[in-house]
Amino acid sequence: MLRYDYKNMLSSTVGLYGSTSQNLNKLRPRLSQAKQAVLELAKTNEQGWLKSPDDQVMLKRIQTMAREKKFVKNCLVIGIGGSDLATRALYQALGHANKGVKLYFAGSNTDPDELFAALKSLDLKHTLINIVSKSGNTVEPMLCFFTVLRALKKTVGKNYAQHIVATTDAKNGALRELAEKYRWSALPVPANVGGRFSALTDVSLFPLALARVDIGGLLHGAKNQRDEFVSQAVSHNAPALFAALQYLAYTVHSQKIQVLMPYAQRLHQFGFWYRQLWAESLGKRVGRNNRVVKIGPTPIAALGATDQHSQVQLYNEGPHDKTVTFIEVEKFEHDLEAAPELNEIPGLAYLVGKKFSQIIQIERLATALALNQNNRPNGTIFLPQVNAEHMGGLIMFFELAAAISGELYDINAYDQPGVEAGKRAMHDLMR
Ligand code: PA5
Repeated sequence: MLRYDYKNMLSSTVGLYGSTSQNLNKLRPRLSQAKQAVLELAKTNEQGWLKSPDDQVMLKRIQTMAREKKFVKNCLVIGIGGSDLATRALYQALGHANKGVKLYFAGSNTDPDELFAALKSLDLKHTLINIVSKSGNTVEPMLCFFTVLRALKKTVGKNYAQHIVATTDAKNGALRELAEKYRWSALPVPANVGGRFSALTDVSLFPLALARVDIGGLLHGAKNQRDEFVSQAVSHNAPALFAALQYLAYTVHSQKIQVLMPYAQRLHQFGFWYRQLWAESLGKRVGRNNRVVKIGPTPIAALGATDQHSQVQLYNEGPHDKTVTFIEVEKFEHDLEAAPELNEIPGLAYLVGKKFSQIIQIERLATALALNQNNRPNGTIFLPQVNAEHMGGLIMFFELAAAISGELYDINAYDQPGVEAGKRAMHDLMR
């Protein structure tokens, strides 16, 4: 299981800019209520994402579809936002070594150069198109999909339909209607799971299954994390404590920027998934009861060690307006040893004989210590390994933390009226 170390978030380590244990204790009753509220949303089926890890019917359905479609070599996943980011993040983390279908991505932009390049490089005869859109009417993916569809029909001919899987609402929407009309294979997005909470549903699990990612392992890890959340008191509950400390940082210390900085290249995309989850769930104009609150932390996706030579200067010496959360991988899949020739550079000779895994971990620790010295609150999530089980746990950890945060801020974490407003304005401008 992952472990959250938050001692550097506290005033005992980072002084005035850290949360006090008194404030954390004071928040405890509200945190317990928040936990109950999240569980209640699952119990009443208003929110389905907490139960996704138990859904064996879904698992079988996805595995069957993946078997049916494994005649292809590539899969072009077309989607945006919640219909895109988790798949990219999990594929980067887990898909690299597998000999399954290779995933490509499109539909998250209307940049013609991007789609042109994808169409030019992909052999559509050996490619499955997985169009993913819960609503079925989002501009960017649908625009790309219809362009790809024309090219597919031209290349594959009358059997083109075998090359399509539409992942969309089970009953409603234009994409569902088209899938039925043209007999395309289709998978459902549960009505009670919103886009950014759909990582552990058909949305991401189908393309990942094609890529031979262990989707059962992902669900299992998520289930363990969920069960731990359910059984543990909030005072020892990692996602609840993470949410509470970020909330106190925002409300008590005006630290309105919340950086996630994994020290692992395979978790780079994960930062972009977190960024959407945090921004769309928590950035709201109105709270419950329609009070205008204009609230929400600004999430930043950084990468260790890379951003030590970019962002970390700002984090250490700029305004006291942020928190940093590191992710440390405890065991890397492969390791390398620093070459003896480094002796030739006196200032770097100390590296000789050290493992890369040790060096990257020490870099993370050194950054945390420097932040401590500068009174900058920071925490670390220790991930035992980048494997399916732990990635499932990590996804569930952040979904739970986002849901708890929504309760603490007293906003609806599951809608996105600000996104819808942009969609409407675009429609009006182009008519
Ligand atoms: O989290 C969300 O709800 C959004 O980011 C959606 O996933 C995004 O707007 C794409 O929507 P759709 O799947 O309907 O195309």
